[in-house]
Amino acid sequence: MMLERLEAIKKEALESLAQAKGEVVLRAWETKYLGRKSEFNTLLRGVKELSAEERKAVGAKGNAVKHELYRAFETARTTSHAATTDWEAERIDVTLPGVGRVAGYLHPITLIEEEIEDIFFSMGFSVADGPEVESEWYNFDALNFPPDHPARDMQDAFWLTETWGKKKYLPRTHTSSVQVRYMETHKPPFQIIIPGRIFRNEATDASHEHTFHQFECLVVGDDISVANFKSVAEVFFTAFFEKKTEVRLRPSFFPFTEPSFEFDVSCMLCGGAGCPVCKGTGWLEIGGAGMVHQNVFVAAGYPRGRYQGFAWGFGLTRLAMMKYRISDIRLLMSGDLRFIQQF
Ligand code: FA5
Repeated sequence: MMLERLEAIKKEALESLAQAKGEVVLRAWETKYLGRKSEFNTLLRGVKELSAEERKAVGAKGNAVKHELYRAFETARTTSHAATTDWEAERIDVTLPGVGRVAGYLHPITLIEEEIEDIFFSMGFSVADGPEVESEWYNFDALNFPPDHPARDMQDAFWLTETWGKKKYLPRTHTSSVQVRYMETHKPPFQIIIPGRIFRNEATDASHEHTFHQFECLVVGDDISVANFKSVAEVFFTAFFEKKTEVRLRPSFFPFTEPSFEFDVSCMLCGGAGCPVCKGTGWLEIGGAGMVHQNVFVAAGYPRGRYQGFAWGFGLTRLAMMKYRISDIRLLMSGDLRFIQQF
């Protein structure tokens, strides 16, 4: 009885297959005759109710039918596909939404760096670079930091334990380390910017990091004065904050500049009237600056008194925080994707 039914199913299935054309119809055929809920498979599941002898016969017949049907199905698919590809069924629906791809994100520091570089390029500056692990000479000595002078403690350094002969190395504590490197191979006049990552042995809090970015500006030539510095800084910050910005100088000390200044810019939020961002003062502290000390020119191999220049450096990281209203500096180097994805 079961054997006959299997034979009948096979016959019907093969006849039906002979009429089936196209991928969609063939798939429907497969479901109907070989699918889990097909009569064929339902019948075979009943095999366990049979006697051992009958089970053997029905099992063998079932397998044979199954193989035959699958073989016929594969042949029909191959020929049907080659001869009559069902273009209708395979048509691509171009209105379906695509699969989204996750693109990378530029880090806010990179964004700011590119923005700053664009402004300086428009003023005719070029970019200089230097190593992140630097010799004591370029980071301190050549910049007129006297040996064992307390000025070295203004920037707490991490030191490499290894030394090369008498030479000591450190992850640079400021981008000023590139100044003498550049001057050794270039003759004035020049105007450069030096963006870069720097490292300090500091306790961290919401506004202090041990690893952060600075931006240095160095202009050397004849007849360069503090007035040139102030005007370049004002043009730059006005373009950067997209708002008329003034620069204010306060006396300060750096071994590599004389005279030296701290410089502030008028608050980009309130324009100088006083607000919580500038703590009511109308000014924001940005960085350090000054006229290049003649000892630095001498360390670079220039004749003493031959050139003048100004240099200034500021925390690029702090600028990014102002621009994007980032409240904690530690977020920037945290590597937390939830933070980076916001830019
Ligand atoms: C310097 O590093 C000098 N090289 C700047 C300079 C260049 C002066 C050229 C004169 C001529 P200072 O240590 O003050 O200076 O650091 C400059 C700026 O870096 C600061 O104004 C501040 O914006 C930023 N900065 C300093 N320490 C940290 C810190 N721990 N985390 C984040 N930003 C910092």
